[in-house]
Amino acid sequence: MTVEAWTRARLIRLRTAHSPRRCLQIAAFVAGQSVPLAEPGLRRPVVCGFVNTVLTGSIATDHLMRFPGRFRDSLLAGSLENVSLSFLVDELVIRRGGVAANIAYGMGLLGARPVLVGAVGADFADYRAWLEQHGVDTSSVHVSDLAHTARFLCTTDAELNQIASFYAGAMSEARNISLAPVAERLGGIDLVVVSPNDPEAMLRHTQEARSAGYPLLADPSQQLARMEGPELRRLVQGAAYLVTNEYERDLLASKTGWTDEQVLEQVGVRLTTIGSKGVEIQRSGEPAITIPVVPESGKVDPTGVGDAFRAGLLAGLGGDLPVPACARLGSLLAVYVLETVGPQEYVMDRHDAVVRLTDAYGPQAAAEIAAVLPD
Ligand SMILES: Nc1ncnc2c1ncn2[C@@H]1O[C@H](COP(=O)(O)OP(=O)(O)OP(=O)(O)O)[C@@H](O)[C@H]1O
Ligand SMILES: [Mg+2]
Repeated sequence: MTVEAWTRARLIRLRTAHSPRRCLQIAAFVAGQSVPLAEPGLRRPVVCGFVNTVLTGSIATDHLMRFPGRFRDSLLAGSLENVSLSFLVDELVIRRGGVAANIAYGMGLLGARPVLVGAVGADFADYRAWLEQHGVDTSSVHVSDLAHTARFLCTTDAELNQIASFYAGAMSEARNISLAPVAERLGGIDLVVVSPNDPEAMLRHTQEARSAGYPLLADPSQQLARMEGPELRRLVQGAAYLVTNEYERDLLASKTGWTDEQVLEQVGVRLTTIGSKGVEIQRSGEPAITIPVVPESGKVDPTGVGDAFRAGLLAGLGGDLPVPACARLGSLLAVYVLETVGPQEYVMDRHDAVVRLTDAYGPQAAAEIAAVLPD
């Protein structure tokens, strides 16, 4: 489909009440192109790229070092008052990370053109180029004049003990970002995702989305540990989707004091990832559905599985798929990350994706998802 046809589809979407799928059909028809959209199993060039999904959250790099000795040989009991240590490391790996950036990468691979919103430092140029190259809109990323992009520095010793530091840096400026200019630039927002970020920013973006009437996906994950009940209630209340893992589900219950049923009454759909046991989908008053995982061919590095799951889920939602199909697409991306070192190093091969979806969920479910996979 041509860029003009996409633009037309976008305009139709803004001016009518048609579904994203229908807008694409009309635009393709006007452009004299035949794009098979409605029937499962037939191809669509990209997930409805004109569905504006705004991803707010952290953008960071991970600097991972390996110390070939043992920390405990240098940490001498009795001499810990004046610690001044330097470990000569023999390996440094720098990986692109941050929750929102990881999710954006996965959505970009699926052709969903997500809009990343977060704060970074002047050192972001290479990272920006990488994300843009993978289909991410980075125009609304705020660049700090003062601080560097958030950085996680971690040294692991020969016994797998770790000494780490997290520098939030520019991330603290995310609280100054307003969604209004983003909405203006895009001509509207269809979904706002609030992922772990500067806590003030998370509250601000939730509040802005709520006031403007934008549907919200609440993804508080890591920040559940540091935020308290009243703040967490504000993040979750009225969200169209709430996504956590199983541990975070319990933490949310204990911090908010809400029972599971009370949480379900506050949100549209709740998805809980349960590691190798898959994902549970719950709606108030309906029986829960469990979607099993796409079986792994080898566990290489679990970093970023949760983020990749969210990327597939969101791309599916943007493509108008039903929630269980979105969860299956999320599970596919999650297993790709599990089988690859690093959260943004996996690739998407359409043929392989369809085979793995078919093996995991059967041909009909695979065909339904294949309709939104890019070529
Ligand atoms: N062993 C596995 N095999 C296949 N898929 C898996 C496995 N472990 C996790 N996944 C997939 O990843 C999804 C998210 O996993 P999990 O519940 O562990 O997330 P998380 O704890 O938030 O991870 P993260 O460490 O990224 O925060 C699962 O729902 C599943 O689809
Ligand atoms: Mg997680």
